Amino acid sequence: MNTIKSYVETHKNRFIDELIELLKIPSISADPAYTQDVIDTSAVIKTSLEKAGCDHVEICETPGYPIVYGHKHISDDLPTVLVYGHYDVQPPDPLELWESGPFEPIIKKTEIHPEGAIFARGSCDDKGQMYMHVKALELMNATNQLPCNVKFMIEGEEEVGSESLAWFVERNQEKLANDVILISDTGMISNTQPSITTGLRGLSYVEVEVTGPNRDLHSGLYGGAVANPINILAKMIASLHDENNRITIPGFYDKVEDLSTEERAEMAKAPFSLEEYKNALDIDSVYGEAGYTTNERNSIRPTLDVNGIWGGYTGEGAKTVIASKAYAKISMRLVPNQEWKEITELFKTHFENIAPKGVTVKVTPHHGGQGYVTPIDNIGYQAASKAYEETFGVPAIPQRSGGSIPIVSLFEKELKSKTILMGFGLNSDAIHSPNEHFGIFNYLKGIETIPLFYKYYTELSK
Ligand code: BES
Ligand code: MN
Ligand code: MN
Repeated sequence: MNTIKSYVETHKNRFIDELIELLKIPSISADPAYTQDVIDTSAVIKTSLEKAGCDHVEICETPGYPIVYGHKHISDDLPTVLVYGHYDVQPPDPLELWESGPFEPIIKKTEIHPEGAIFARGSCDDKGQMYMHVKALELMNATNQLPCNVKFMIEGEEEVGSESLAWFVERNQEKLANDVILISDTGMISNTQPSITTGLRGLSYVEVEVTGPNRDLHSGLYGGAVANPINILAKMIASLHDENNRITIPGFYDKVEDLSTEERAEMAKAPFSLEEYKNALDIDSVYGEAGYTTNERNSIRPTLDVNGIWGGYTGEGAKTVIASKAYAKISMRLVPNQEWKEITELFKTHFENIAPKGVTVKVTPHHGGQGYVTPIDNIGYQAASKAYEETFGVPAIPQRSGGSIPIVSLFEKELKSKTILMGFGLNSDAIHSPNEHFGIFNYLKGIETIPLFYKYYTELSK
């Protein structure tokens, strides 16, 4: 057994226990009730980086949650890898759908994870995946095989738009100078078919409010005679897609990058079973934009989805009422070369334009970000590819993902470096959902694969 494998084998139980401790802290960035927990988590990350062998670690204050920065410098003549990850997590709601407490991690076996998986909010997204890098650093240090310089930048606001990180990156270009950025915050095809994420979608997130009468009304006395904001909102939302499931906002597709027939044919080679996909979700049919496959619809095509809708009476029993207001939260996933701010404006103008007489509409933009595509002809991708092939025994396939990490395009703009997305999660890990989990196999495989990335990256840099 090589030193990497034997180090993981010897220390794996401690690696798992440490992650479990980290997962117990409810670092929910979206909910101000958990502010102290988010801050406490940054302190735990700081200590773990010190123990893993960083020369210097600091908590960097920002207008929002702190960023944990650490580095280990070996030589000015060697390349520098910048690791990014996030220690904040999504809210666990709906709580009643969790089989065990979201912040009471337990290990359970599943069909896909016969070695067991850790169930907890953040286990995969992103505490578990981020912590693989901390343990990989420990391993490289302890076995004397860290081949280059390393910097860590772990933030606490990814799930709410990374505003403070953008602030921090703009002000610390020199401190963050690097040759390549390494992130594990995405997924792969399966435990027998690794893949490297080569694209992320952009995002525009908006909230809409439709106001009708100045107060809630009796639905018998007024029903039929005034605009019902909930009816109107439903109609407006329905009109945002046409019969081919294309988005009807004028100009929405203008800048969308069209893939060539060859590129689409290449994508179609990735293993995928529509039957398994449907079975896993208990659906009898897939749904989406005409003319595209499921994998195209969820990666290279832009989308518009309602994420939440509310208004009127939703309590027990019935209440006959026409609400004064109706609301919805809407996300648009964007692809290269759509500009998220431009799309937000197009949405706002269109939504205001389609409002019928009798209601007023307010559109409030939340956050957003640009999509990203990593070229595969650079040494970062090649190093990742060699690393996966060595630990999984099969070559990794490039794959564009539908998710978003908006800060990645900002890294390219501000730090002028490419990001390599070495994800070890699976789509079935239920990130952002109840019963999120992360396979023990995936966690340990990540810790084993990351040091090889450093090794090959340094070799290929020479
Ligand atoms: N780690 C995810 C993004 C992701 C997951 C990308 C799986 C590819 C595969 C990240 O934490 C996330 O949830 N991002 C948000 C956007 C953010 C601005 C809230 C998303 O994609 O919804
Ligand atoms: Mn994440
Ligand atoms: Mn997330």
